[in-house]
Amino acid sequence: MRVGILTGGGDCPGLNAVIRAVVRKGVTEHGMEFIGFRDGWRGPMEGLTMPLGIPETRDILTRGGTVLGSSRTNPFSVEGGVEQIKATFKTLGIDALVAIGGEDTLGVATKLTEAGVSVVGVPKTIDNDLSGTDFTFGFDTAVQIATDSIDRLHTTADSHHRALVVEVMGRHAGWIALHSGLAGGANVVLIPEQPFDIEEVCRHIETCFESGKAPLVVTSEGAVPIETGDGHGMTLVSGEKDAFGHVRLGGIADRLASEIEQRTGHETRSVVLGHLQRGGTPTAFDRWLATRFGLEAADAVAEGDFGTMMALRGKDIVRVPLSEGTGELKVVSPEEYADAQVFFG
Ligand code: F6P
Repeated sequence: MRVGILTGGGDCPGLNAVIRAVVRKGVTEHGMEFIGFRDGWRGPMEGLTMPLGIPETRDILTRGGTVLGSSRTNPFSVEGGVEQIKATFKTLGIDALVAIGGEDTLGVATKLTEAGVSVVGVPKTIDNDLSGTDFTFGFDTAVQIATDSIDRLHTTADSHHRALVVEVMGRHAGWIALHSGLAGGANVVLIPEQPFDIEEVCRHIETCFESGKAPLVVTSEGAVPIETGDGHGMTLVSGEKDAFGHVRLGGIADRLASEIEQRTGHETRSVVLGHLQRGGTPTAFDRWLATRFGLEAADAVAEGDFGTMMALRGKDIVRVPLSEGTGELKVVSPEEYADAQVFFG
């Protein structure tokens, strides 16, 4: 059996661990042969491949990023994109594909399954916003990096009696902000699911300064202010869009810092963690999760269980329909956000 593997969307620590596990189990236990597709869906569309066997996957377990490369190419937004993929599979004799990706990549995988392509999906995203699985790999690493940064920022903020606003990734879901904010003792956590009131944020800032501590605000990149309609609210500028129609975000921390400084009179600085959260070696948990997803994906292909996505449920790895993972984003509930609100101010 000839199997293709691709990684799509934003890169994420643990991608190489999945590739290694799929290949190792596929070759040794199922006698499969693999072809690596380069740069997400661009690979099968344009026939961009690389050799992928046990020798190519040695020593990649701990490496960040993806040896296959990635892109945000969407075959459904390119004329004839799906036909190009089918033609490549025919030419290369590909029987099945393992697609490792987030909402967008697995969304494409879902539609390709409906179009008759044999696909198995592995959920990846530092944002942890895919449904059907308790966690995606990459999330734990991103939270650890954000928490380490928050720990460091507390001490410099205290020394200078300044407020600090830290922007973490998460355009539609506040999981990284929530977990790192709780772990790092943030004084305010802002997430896309709960529009914030800038005046309330400023009250928490004042309370914190009054108790002799420099406040630290953790905000998701997708956090939005409430519409006050009275001229006292905040506005945000929107950026360009990618191939999946997502607005390129960024800038909320800067905007917040200047609003807080203006409204409270306290010096306020901002820090954007950005792609630092996606780079570098995965944590032990992410290596473990990614490896187990990869092992299960090899079995799913061998059994012809296509249209499925690997998922973590408790401590078990299970298979769920791809559509379950991509149908609806997994977002932070008001109850989960309430845990962080206990520590505001
Ligand atoms: O989807 C993962 C993610 O890290 C988001 O949190 C973020 O908005 C986006 O990717 C940024 O991706 P890029 O800068 O690579 O376009």
